Amino acid sequence: MKATRHFPSYSAIICVLSLLLGVSRHHPASAEDAISPALIEAGHYQAILGDCAACHSASNRPAYSGGVPFTLPIGTLYASNISPDPIHGIGTYSEADFSRAVRQGVRKDGSPLYPAMPYPSYARMSGADIHALYVYFHNHVAPQAISPPANTIKWPLSIRWPLHIWRWLFSPSIKAAQKRTQSEFKDPILSRGAYLVEGAGHCGACHTPRSITLNEKAQTAADGPLFLSGGGVLEGWVVPSLRQENRTGLGRWSEENIVEFLQTGRTPAGVGFGGMTPVITHSSHAFSESDLHAIARYLLTLAPAQKETLWVYDPSTAQKLRKGDLSQTGARLYVDRCAACHRTDGTGYGAVFPPLAGNPVVMTSDPTSLVHIILKGGSSKSLPTAPSAFTMPAFEDTFNDRELADLVSFIRHSWGNKADPVSDKTIHTLRHTINMQETPVDPPPKN
Ligand code: HEC
Ligand code: HEC
Ligand code: HEC
Repeated sequence: MKATRHFPSYSAIICVLSLLLGVSRHHPASAEDAISPALIEAGHYQAILGDCAACHSASNRPAYSGGVPFTLPIGTLYASNISPDPIHGIGTYSEADFSRAVRQGVRKDGSPLYPAMPYPSYARMSGADIHALYVYFHNHVAPQAISPPANTIKWPLSIRWPLHIWRWLFSPSIKAAQKRTQSEFKDPILSRGAYLVEGAGHCGACHTPRSITLNEKAQTAADGPLFLSGGGVLEGWVVPSLRQENRTGLGRWSEENIVEFLQTGRTPAGVGFGGMTPVITHSSHAFSESDLHAIARYLLTLAPAQKETLWVYDPSTAQKLRKGDLSQTGARLYVDRCAACHRTDGTGYGAVFPPLAGNPVVMTSDPTSLVHIILKGGSSKSLPTAPSAFTMPAFEDTFNDRELADLVSFIRHSWGNKADPVSDKTIHTLRHTINMQETPVDPPPKN
């Protein structure tokens, strides 16, 4: 009798003990644990720097439960649930598993990830930053017991192991990535800027051109002038060069312009729109002041990828328009529809109505963004760093292809801009491709 009474109470003690141990392992509050609020905050900041929410938090689903669709030529891929749910998310990932997934693109089960997840950039992140990030996700993010929709990539293309070959070819080892961090710049501010841009910030994922094998043609500044030299068209928007080209890059942006752009989405040099808007609203607006300056200062060191004649303001268009001379093709359309905000001299109003004179968006050889914003309009987002929002109206029903070609060519030619004219045929094609971008392909099925 006695033994049977002892037995359950003995096991109850063990049970309680192990529960306590288990609990203390999962709860950051325990005194032994090195998980301080400061570490959680540091991890949260890494999640902002890496913009994990951009891909892992879909607008109609709980935070970090995945489900953001990526339309690849071979089907649709959905980003994983990275909340700490043990079944649907990454709750069973150890820190080593997490580090391998984020920096090397390999899941806990050993299968490789699609490089839609920018792990070749994250390879650069330090062990300390990955630790903070892990602690944040593991201990602070709420677990979400839902799975993303199933990928629609069909067998045999759904077989993952060939992605290992891609990883070996194109993704740096952690050791190689860290070495760059240590050796590149003597100046600690530039070094920090390189670490952020080439690492967690993964700016090259959009701003660097990709090869036919979908790898970025350069992963860091040390790889040569293709790095951040402009990523082509992404979802109907041209991703511009962040190098020092005078007309189509950041050659005439000051450190302050870049900081202000990343913080608020607008500066007297231009405004953020298209694919850059979510980067600013989710991520860069919350970068620390010193990190923003480090990024800007580093970007200013990137030599131009191509030589361009210096942009010099040419006052002749403004003088003609002021005299009422509308003889130039497209001039009347501009005066009637655009000049109220962007002014006859093309200089706009500070950070409210961006300038068209000397604006890289206007002069870039590919006119997709210019046509896109005229057709669909745009609206600066209200942010804590820039509370008031301004709107650019949509003009898709206002102009036919000929008129839009005239208007766009006029803007590209005036005020010293000197970019090539655009034909009505090009406008016709762009109208079609831009409209295709607006309709979501393959909407995610309901869970
Ligand atoms: C540009 C989009 C993008 C960004 C930014 C991004 N991810 Fe991912 N991530 C993905 C996609 C897509 C997958 C799924 C890939 C697959 O299924 O092969 C993924 C997968 C993962 C996985 C693997 C989970 C699993 O087992 O399936 C982890 C862990 C992860 N991401 C963490 C992060 C963290 C942490 C950040 C921020 C530092 C981040 N991701 C930022 C797109 C992104
Ligand atoms: C998801 C893709 C994407 C990522 C990631 C991204 N950008 Fe961009 N970026 C764009 C697009 C698209 C534009 C063009 C629209 C615009 O000018 O706002 C742009 C424009 C810019 C511009 C304005 C250039 C100009 O000539 O008008 C700057 C500066 C910039 N990005 C900096 C960065 C930095 C720094 C990072 C990394 C922290 C980054 N971007 C990451 C897509 C991206
Ligand atoms: C009512 C005022 C208004 C009118 C009229 C207007 N715009 Fe805009 N425009 C804006 C605002 C505001 C923005 C910034 C939008 C944003 O933040 O997304 C903008 C942005 C732009 C940009 C992007 C510049 C950059 O640096 O990102 C271009 C190009 C442009 N407008 C051209 C035109 C043309 C061409 C017309 C005439 C057909 C026109 N706009 C008419 C207010 C206006």
